[in-house]
Amino acid sequence: RSSVVCSVSNVDSALVSKAGKADLKWDELGFAYVNTKCFVKCVYKDGQWGEMTIETDPYVKVHIGATALHYGQSCFEGMKAFTGKDGKVRLFRVDENAKRLQTSTERMVMPEVPSNMFIEACKLAVRENIEYAPPYGFGGSLYVRPLMFGSGARVGLQPADEYTFVVLVTPVGDYYKGGLSPVTAFVQTKYDRAAPQGIGNVKVGANYAADILPFQICKSKGYPINLYLHPKTGKTVEEFGTSNFIALKGDSYVTPDSPSVLPSITNKTLMHLASEMGMQVERRPVTVEEIADFDEVAACGTAVVITPVTRLVHNDEVIKLGNYDDQVGPRFNELYQNVRAIQNAEVEDRYGWTFDV
Ligand code: PLP
Ligand code: COI
Repeated sequence: RSSVVCSVSNVDSALVSKAGKADLKWDELGFAYVNTKCFVKCVYKDGQWGEMTIETDPYVKVHIGATALHYGQSCFEGMKAFTGKDGKVRLFRVDENAKRLQTSTERMVMPEVPSNMFIEACKLAVRENIEYAPPYGFGGSLYVRPLMFGSGARVGLQPADEYTFVVLVTPVGDYYKGGLSPVTAFVQTKYDRAAPQGIGNVKVGANYAADILPFQICKSKGYPINLYLHPKTGKTVEEFGTSNFIALKGDSYVTPDSPSVLPSITNKTLMHLASEMGMQVERRPVTVEEIADFDEVAACGTAVVITPVTRLVHNDEVIKLGNYDDQVGPRFNELYQNVRAIQNAEVEDRYGWTFDV
């Protein structure tokens, strides 16, 4: 049998000591899918959620009329679990991902996943695959990907009557090779990521579908990351394809304020830490012209953490960014070290951001 019904209370906590025991080369991990033991699944049918099951076969059987396949009725989340200095594995801000998924399901007219169910499903997926959580000291993490899609059949455009929620995990290393090494970003002037009053502010598959072609073009030109501008004016900064835009200037931490940008949980974390470090947080429109004046520029997100951006390619012009000559700047470095120390339980979590699995 590839599926077992699971009671969330009966999981052996001794599993935690097995973190990092899978036979993998932990120092060679990139951001690529690695198969693990199992995933967690729950189906919504007849107006209610069914039992949570653990599935070992990584294929799901989906109706050919599923709304997710035809009309993109699907959304997802992404967070990481880290093995701490003490060997315990903890999820980072899973409660925030639960809330964000609720904004996505509401916009996609999908049933809500209650926060406690979401958090339990994520913890369960991590516990059941605990061997795949990279050990402390390798810089890696277990990436947790909750996904929800309309699995019920419809031909006319309307919400499905059945939904599938799964949580899969996969061990990851750096998203861009080299971790804190700076990257050059390519400014998309020909394509938009999201419409001004569209779905850019929620984490739905369709936003990523829109980015596939522009991102392929960007990579074929040799750049690992692309920056989107305001879809109506092209004058202000939105965000990168898979991360938020953040910058520092004097004592200010600046990030664009736009209704078509995804509210990043990493950015929320960094804004909190930055204000504790005495910086002033400014959420406001950021013009393309002012990017060259910032002291430090970076991309932030779960996958990329903080990735310094030290050059921008805009209309064939290469613009040097920041004051630190293709190096990470001191304050983004400090923020990075601070957040990683909390994630790795090297310092006390005074914020309630980490969750034991
Ligand atoms: N923006 C986009 C478009 C993303 O895909 C992500 C990744 O999740 C982010 C921003 C960063 O969000 P978070 O920090 O919650 O991972
Ligand atoms: C994440 O940072 O969790 C993301 O979802 C980015 C992903 C599209 C690679």
